[in-house]
Amino acid sequence: MALEMEQASTPEQFVGRSACAVRLRAKLARLSKFPVNILLQGETGTGKELAARILHFSGPRRAGPFIGVNCAAVHESLLESELFGHEAGAFTGARRASPGLLRAANHGTILLDEVGDMGPSLQSKLLRVLEDRAVLPVGATRSIPVDIRVIAATHRDLAQAVRSGAFRSDLYYRLNVVTLTLPALRQRREDIPLLAAGMLHQVARLLDMPVKSISPQAEHMLMEYDWPGNVRELGNVMQRACVLGRGQVIEPADLRDYLMEGARVEQFATLDDMVSQHIHDALAKSGGVRVEAARMLGINRKRLWRMMNHYKISH
Ligand SMILES: Nc1ncnc2c1ncn2[C@@H]1O[C@H](COP(=O)(O)OP(=O)(O)OP(=O)(O)O)[C@@H](O)[C@H]1O
Ligand SMILES: [Mg+2]
Repeated sequence: MALEMEQASTPEQFVGRSACAVRLRAKLARLSKFPVNILLQGETGTGKELAARILHFSGPRRAGPFIGVNCAAVHESLLESELFGHEAGAFTGARRASPGLLRAANHGTILLDEVGDMGPSLQSKLLRVLEDRAVLPVGATRSIPVDIRVIAATHRDLAQAVRSGAFRSDLYYRLNVVTLTLPALRQRREDIPLLAAGMLHQVARLLDMPVKSISPQAEHMLMEYDWPGNVRELGNVMQRACVLGRGQVIEPADLRDYLMEGARVEQFATLDDMVSQHIHDALAKSGGVRVEAARMLGINRKRLWRMMNHYKISH
């Protein structure tokens, strides 16, 4: 089961009460009214696609198509014909002509996801579309006018890619009339309880089960975790806790296994903790023989004695 994003269409569906979430909601509402090209930047799962949907569905183009293309998922030559279309016989296997996704998005919006992964030749073809407002299908000699709003999304730092020469600067400036940066969830931790509660409602509705609540201790765990997968990961964790947790209230035990995966939960050790632990280990290994422990630690006996006093280590 996938926690499918509902046809998000209004800025209110961008949940959050943090200052940056409030600001983003207001920007999405305003920008949906104007067909300017927008660049969405943010880590995976921060809501780039959600933002693009809001921009499309709350604006004047909402009756038109909304088409998303992942530029990183397919090979460059395939992506070219998918985007720009092709004439019949343009290449082996192209028996019939295809209009391509850019034309399919006519009078609507196209979301170019992972645009930072687009190769140089497609970058220049895309630039031409933006400049001429027309698409030249593969194998065609005449371009066809289109009216599309382009929203580009990337998890990369595109400005940096421009500096390093991996991304064309002229295309960057065309795409980035406005840049919206979606903050990582760990940068807006105060939104976690609201998002988690919203997701519990969504899961309950989807599975037709009573809405669970979250204990204060479990909520504390959610707030402490770093969420490398951002809101998507929070959604997945809430789903699992709903389905696998036994009680009506989600407790730390229902979360522990998922939050441990691959990311920090435990406290980062301080230098003092590490030094004191290391002295303990040396003393244990040397069977409490201080001169031996000092040798292992590469210090003299006097210094070990001072450090043991400092860290209140008795052995
Ligand atoms: N502010 C938010 N409020 C409610 N739901 C959100 C919010 N941000 C993200 N989500 C939800 O989190 C999930 C992931 O969001 P989305 O697909 O938009 O991320 P993304 O930035 O496009 O990620 P990726 O880079 O991996 O494609 C979706 O189910 C989306 O609805
Ligand atoms: Mg996405």
